[in-house]
Amino acid sequence: MAILPGATIGFLGGGQLGRMAAMAARSLGYGVAVLDPDPRCPAAAIADRCVAASFDDEAAADELARGCAVVTYEIERIAPAALARAAARAPLRPSPRLLELVQDRARQKRWLREQGFPVGPYAEARSPAEALAAALSLGGSLRFKACQGGYDGRGQARAEGEAEAARAFGEIGGVPCVAERELDLAAELSVLVARRPAGETRLFPVARNWHEHGILRVSVLPGELPGDVAERARSIARAMAERLGLEGLLAVEFFWTKGGELFVNELAPRPHNTFHATEAACPTSQFEQLVRAICDLPLGATEPARPTALVNLLGDLWLAASPPDLPGALELPGVRLHLYGKEPRRGRKIGHLLAEAETSAAALELVREAAARLSPAMAAELPPGL
Ligand SMILES: Nc1ncnc2c1ncn2[C@@H]1O[C@H](COP(=O)(O)OP(=O)(O)OP(=O)(O)O)[C@@H](O)[C@H]1O
Ligand SMILES: [Mg+2]
Repeated sequence: MAILPGATIGFLGGGQLGRMAAMAARSLGYGVAVLDPDPRCPAAAIADRCVAASFDDEAAADELARGCAVVTYEIERIAPAALARAAARAPLRPSPRLLELVQDRARQKRWLREQGFPVGPYAEARSPAEALAAALSLGGSLRFKACQGGYDGRGQARAEGEAEAARAFGEIGGVPCVAERELDLAAELSVLVARRPAGETRLFPVARNWHEHGILRVSVLPGELPGDVAERARSIARAMAERLGLEGLLAVEFFWTKGGELFVNELAPRPHNTFHATEAACPTSQFEQLVRAICDLPLGATEPARPTALVNLLGDLWLAASPPDLPGALELPGVRLHLYGKEPRRGRKIGHLLAEAETSAAALELVREAAARLSPAMAAELPPGL
């Protein structure tokens, strides 16, 4: 049953994803309540009510959900007990079961494998001996990834062969992890699917993404990919949403290898950095789509898309000798700036630029030019081969 404007939506997490989703909720006429450890978090400026508490505080989760018609999450590290308390008060969408599935990399990969979705070669490890066994069975270059708590490439260590396995396992803290074979990537892409409780499902065009040191730097929507790669990825994501009975958004990150294989990297049941461009590119943004989906309203159109590229702005830009030239970038027609109201720190996402153009290639060219206006040093660091 539809939750109509005038009701209040609760957000577990008040970072930039919560902030942008809260703005969409406001535009549609909903009230906004936020739980975040930081009372001055990015979403606080948009909220009617902010509960300042940690993500394992059950009483605080209960307090957030009180007075909310529906609760959602924009961050993955919410303790299961806190999720359960919120879910006892109001519908929690997407389901806590789905969040718990993705909170642990090993659990997530096991599920993907069991369900017959394609995942790259990997093995689980809980001790130095298991790390060595994983390296022996996989062979070649590896990436050890902690099962819990990693983001933006944190909690990961590389290993060249079995001689380095124990060192890499120690580097991520000797915690339970998965070892993945390092893949030779032709491209990275992502798919975002929205599904509402009534069952209606809509997908956004596929995004093509470029990461550096584990952090997303550039993304373009629609991403140009050869053959049926994009269609295959979309049908995998659609099947997942249906299998999971999704209520909300599910982002699926994919690797496409030089050998022509398409693998699922990981899932995120929330708005996703690679779909920020939907705000300029699509008739409905990912944030509005989230609100519609969790409120069981008709989903918005996702096409036609106007090609739009994104470049992430990291805190480093503001810590350099001269500040970024924001007016210089905004002078370019088709360029937009989003800042999240976050304190700049090295490697921290502070905002993004969007650039709209006639084609995806032209949008990438324009976003590179905008980045160069902002800071020539940053533009020089953008991944080659965009
Ligand atoms: N097995 C692999 N082979 C090649 N590259 C990889 C592999 N695993 C990760 N990467 C690279 O590192 C990036 C980040 O990896 P991953 O998505 O696992 O990390 P994360 O910390 O969960 O990131 P986020 O949560 O920000 O998406 C990938 O997008 C890709 O560029
Ligand atoms: Mg990732």
